[in-house]
Amino acid sequence: MTPDASDLLRWYDTHRRTLPWRSLPGQRPNPYAVWLSEIMLQQTTVKAVIAYYERFLTHYPTVQDLAAAPQEDVLYLWAGLGYYARARNLHACAKRVAELGQFPDTVEDLLKLPGIGAYTARAIAAIAFGRPVVPVDGNVERVTSRLFAIENPLPASRLLLAKQAALLNQSAEAQDHPSDFAQALFDLGATICTPRNPSCLTCPWRPSCLGHARGIASTLPRKAPKQARPTRYGVHFILLDTSERVLMRTRPEKGLLGGMDEFPGTEWHEAPWTEADAMHHAPTLGPWSLRGDVTHVFTHFTLKLMVYAKTLPAGHNAGIDPSFGAFRSTTRAALPGVMKKCLALAVTDMEKK
Ligand code: ADE
Repeated sequence: MTPDASDLLRWYDTHRRTLPWRSLPGQRPNPYAVWLSEIMLQQTTVKAVIAYYERFLTHYPTVQDLAAAPQEDVLYLWAGLGYYARARNLHACAKRVAELGQFPDTVEDLLKLPGIGAYTARAIAAIAFGRPVVPVDGNVERVTSRLFAIENPLPASRLLLAKQAALLNQSAEAQDHPSDFAQALFDLGATICTPRNPSCLTCPWRPSCLGHARGIASTLPRKAPKQARPTRYGVHFILLDTSERVLMRTRPEKGLLGGMDEFPGTEWHEAPWTEADAMHHAPTLGPWSLRGDVTHVFTHFTLKLMVYAKTLPAGHNAGIDPSFGAFRSTTRAALPGVMKKCLALAVTDMEKK
């Protein structure tokens, strides 16, 4: 039995989450707000996104404001949210939309914009423009795998799940309410059909859920065993001057943490550094004080960093090779989460930003 869209929509009427980017019933959605939230929500939880979303909307109330901003300001506001290619694409996309005069309103045209892939194009088209499409993210994959008791493991089952998910909105009622239907699916996945301990007893789709009927709902979706995440090692040096400025450099535009700021240090490689080897990469001679270590998990590897710090006496901050960076205030730096952790170790008496 195909799940009945009207059961989900009725449930959504009373159980919808209040989220800052959501329009209220009867209000027209703001495509800029929908787009900004969907980019931020890629690989990131609602809880982590809310404060960033609100800061962006305060600084840039319209897509034109965002398009006109310097890239470094955008990266600064994004710092800590992760997956920094999103911030660069966000800015490029805002510029393109400002040129076009408005957001495109079809999946096909949305897909042409920087940073917008299959999922995001469908989410924006459904939520902001009422196109009857089903955006398939991890939540919707989970709901779908349970409804249809699909036991093929991810990621190979992704296409099959997308095909099955597309069946969910075929009724007249779903076709008439694409925006609510898409968001109802997200909310069902986030609050009822959760990864662990789903609340099947209160699920509006329980009567038609094959996974529930077979007693396997909570075990789905199945996943192919993950490759172990390798560990990499690095050492960073936090050099302060007497005006509480810190030596920082900007990472190359391309690649991991592209365009973000960092403290000078070694490469990140597969073997731990000895102190003697690491000191060849320090911006000045010692003595350096070892402040501790930082562990940070990226998608493809775990990073373990040793952090050294030192404060230069007044007048000693000239003559450092520019490849190590320049002395700047950290309060306006685009520091990714891992560098914020390093700074927190090194700096105890300065405002931590
Ligand atoms: N996850 C992705 N997009 C979402 C949205 N619009 N609302 C809630 N959770 C989401």
